[in-house]
Amino acid sequence: MVIVFNLYRSHTSEQAILIFSSRHGKPTAGREGSLVFRCQFPRRQNPSFPLSIHDINSLTHIFQAYNAAASFVPKLTTTVLTYLDPQPDDRILDIGCGDGALTLQIASALSSSGQILGLDASPSMILAAQQTCSRSNHTNCSFHLQDCTRFSKESSAKYLNESWDKVFSNAALHWILRKPETRDDVIRAVHSALKPDGIFVFEMGGFGNCGEVYAALLAALIADGVSPVEARQRSPWFFPSEEWMRNALEETGFEVIKMESEYRPTKLTASDDEDKGGLEGWVKLMAAQFLEAVRDRERAVQFVADILQSIITKHDGTQWIGYVRLRGVARKRT
Ligand SMILES: C[S@@+](CC[C@H](N)C(=O)[O-])C[C@H]1O[C@@H](n2cnc3c(N)ncnc32)[C@H](O)[C@@H]1O
Repeated sequence: MVIVFNLYRSHTSEQAILIFSSRHGKPTAGREGSLVFRCQFPRRQNPSFPLSIHDINSLTHIFQAYNAAASFVPKLTTTVLTYLDPQPDDRILDIGCGDGALTLQIASALSSSGQILGLDASPSMILAAQQTCSRSNHTNCSFHLQDCTRFSKESSAKYLNESWDKVFSNAALHWILRKPETRDDVIRAVHSALKPDGIFVFEMGGFGNCGEVYAALLAALIADGVSPVEARQRSPWFFPSEEWMRNALEETGFEVIKMESEYRPTKLTASDDEDKGGLEGWVKLMAAQFLEAVRDRERAVQFVADILQSIITKHDGTQWIGYVRLRGVARKRT
């Protein structure tokens, strides 16, 4: 099969969304078999869209690295989508919807009287989602800009009005719940959005997620002179345990139906000459916020790689990171 990919602007002008499909032409988000990746442009580049052949050529190495990881992607959401079990007339709120690829996939399962609304705090993610949506023929799907840690009176009246059958969130709550002072507000917002008996279905990074890389990143910052307190504050994530999440939900008025962690070691792509794949590539892509705190980014990345070398490398030379997913289903108690 020939894999083609369409490129869309994403999060910032430094990122692109690659939508792979077996067809040319229309965006394929939401269609069976489509695989969506985000990739970061090298900082020195600031591509304009539509991308030139030169930009596309310069992305080839990134494309190859992501393509190598493609087999993981459909598996990543299979279980949580099974738990969501979208019904044709469902009204679903998607928290931290990102570029909307998954939201559109869910929209495919809804009838014209069903509805899914994606909320995200990133203007460019919402723009990308709206553009992809307008190119599709979905009429039951929309996207609004909204910081889910902070709802105004107007946005509360619009979204947190007990009108949703289901609230869904994938790979976003470990960002949204980052600040201790707004964690309760987020869970209360989900509760207020749902109809009585409505269902909250989520998957996120759980306790211990990528723990080895997380620890090495903290050590790299501290070795660079950043205080331990500041190093911890630089973390963009909160990875709660099953117990924390269960308590938080129950205290807010949910009955927890499922709460499970899955340890899912994930094989890194092979490293290339330019360090685009492998551990170095992963760290530069995923932990950019941590690296903003150091004086010498390359040295910090090398530090992380040196610390982790023997921990993440198997006898056959492949390298693995310990992903931990936390998944849950909770019903709003009446
Ligand atoms: C990894 S993406 C996941 C996107 C999508 N759910 C998916 O599965 O492809 C995480 C998203 O969470 C969003 N996000 C982070 N903090 C947020 C907040 N406070 N409110 C709303 N969205 C937020 C980010 O902008 C990003 O689009």
